[in-house]
Amino acid sequence: MKFYITTPLYYVNAEPHIGHTYTTVAADCLARFYRMTGFDVFFLTGTDEHGQKIYEASQKEGIAPLELADRVSEIFKNMWKRMNISYNRFIRTTEKQHEEVVKKVFNILLEKGDLYKGEYNGFYCVYCESYVIVEDEKNPLCPDCKRPVKEISETSYFFRLSKYQKQLEDLIQNTEIVKPDFRKSEILNFIKQGLNDISITRKNVIWGIESPTEEKYTIYVWFDALLNYLSGIGYLYNKENFSKYWPPDVQLIGKDIMRFHHIIWPALIFALELPQPKKIFAHGWWISGKEKISKSKGNVISPEYYINEYGVDPFRFFLLREIPFGLDGEFSEENFKKRYNSDLVNDFGNLLNRILNLIEKKFDGYLPEGEIDGKIIEFSEDIYKNYSEKMENIAFSESIEAIWKLVIYLNKYLDEKAPWRENASDIEKTIISVFYGIRNLLIFLKPFIPETCEKMSEMMGLDKKEIEKFENLKTKYSGRIKIRKREIIFYRKK
Ligand code: MSP
Repeated sequence: MKFYITTPLYYVNAEPHIGHTYTTVAADCLARFYRMTGFDVFFLTGTDEHGQKIYEASQKEGIAPLELADRVSEIFKNMWKRMNISYNRFIRTTEKQHEEVVKKVFNILLEKGDLYKGEYNGFYCVYCESYVIVEDEKNPLCPDCKRPVKEISETSYFFRLSKYQKQLEDLIQNTEIVKPDFRKSEILNFIKQGLNDISITRKNVIWGIESPTEEKYTIYVWFDALLNYLSGIGYLYNKENFSKYWPPDVQLIGKDIMRFHHIIWPALIFALELPQPKKIFAHGWWISGKEKISKSKGNVISPEYYINEYGVDPFRFFLLREIPFGLDGEFSEENFKKRYNSDLVNDFGNLLNRILNLIEKKFDGYLPEGEIDGKIIEFSEDIYKNYSEKMENIAFSESIEAIWKLVIYLNKYLDEKAPWRENASDIEKTIISVFYGIRNLLIFLKPFIPETCEKMSEMMGLDKKEIEKFENLKTKYSGRIKIRKREIIFYRKK
């Protein structure tokens, strides 16, 4: 079984901020979850490097656009390394291979009659890299970002989007492609208003892929960028890899790029006569002081600060735990700290500490062999079922909620059994059972906080391999184990 997952390709005019990190961490968490379930996973991410916006950004710095792209794509790669992002491929749209695929697709669609030459008279928003319809032509502003837009009038190639209107309606109506469900009607209403063909070349933009036509045009950056999801796994040049992974199982995007992904992208796939992606999930925005966090708003929250101050895993955890994926959420350090202290320090970190302490005090650092309480075995199995259902629905925060039921249960179990008391009954069984429960927690939490889970498993004297697959949940742990040196992983923050 395979699982193909993608993130959007990030523009290289800005360094990675919380918005980019959000989508990427979410994709990483799903990729890890499916690997641990036993799927053959392909996780694609990368950078979007062409177009007028990037060109203008490079001019501002007085450097060549490729120089900017080289530098910023490296910064993205380094950030993903720091955040333990387990992608299989990082694609850059300036790669030769990708450019070739884009040109070939252009030709296929041209031959098919899905591209035709026409005149584009209208407005273009460089910031959104989008053709837009404005309200007031005398003072033309982008309907989305409200920035002034340019009027253009030029010959261009058009993609026959209108031809696919009915097919798109059926697709969206009858499949799970648009996620979350509440977005479906929004997209359908938009389509039902009627789809216009879209211009997919530009005449006066120099930074982009050249059209494979006699008269040269620059291919529209979104046409170029969307095709990465095909070229990234070998479309038209690596048949074996492509047929192994196509179609995408989950594509994650932010809600600002839904129309490109829920309308234009599936239409291109129809035109290429390929199977459609299973789910394209649009998550919400992180906002700060009521505004979307973005470079242009000047309210960027740097992942660096949170990583340095709290650690990579607490940052990953917060992003996925705090807000239901799909909804907007306010990012603040106050909320971050609250979540960190209550969930990671008090509940989870403390639980591990308590058990390792007990093993040291009561058994000289050796977990004895013995029986596990059936209640904990059963409870863990229920949690796993619940948790995996939520993960399959791309509901991260609800998945963690499910896992936290076990964290709370184990803490309470310890409180009630109080094995530190001299006259407590079942001391051995209690400690072994909680140890086993924590081992399960490490397996459940590994997709979210991989480094922490590995460290903790080491402290518990377990082999890292033991928490690498969900299948290992079946092993009922009760062997004699020597626990290792302890260290505090989550320090309380004031
Ligand atoms: N290059 C295009 C995507 C092309 S995909 C074929 C693009 N790039 S982007 O860098 O501007 O944004 C990438 C993603 O980051 C988008 O999905 C966007 O929603 C997400 N985020 C950017 N700021 C965000 C927040 N403040 N909050 C959450 N995600 C947001 O669009």
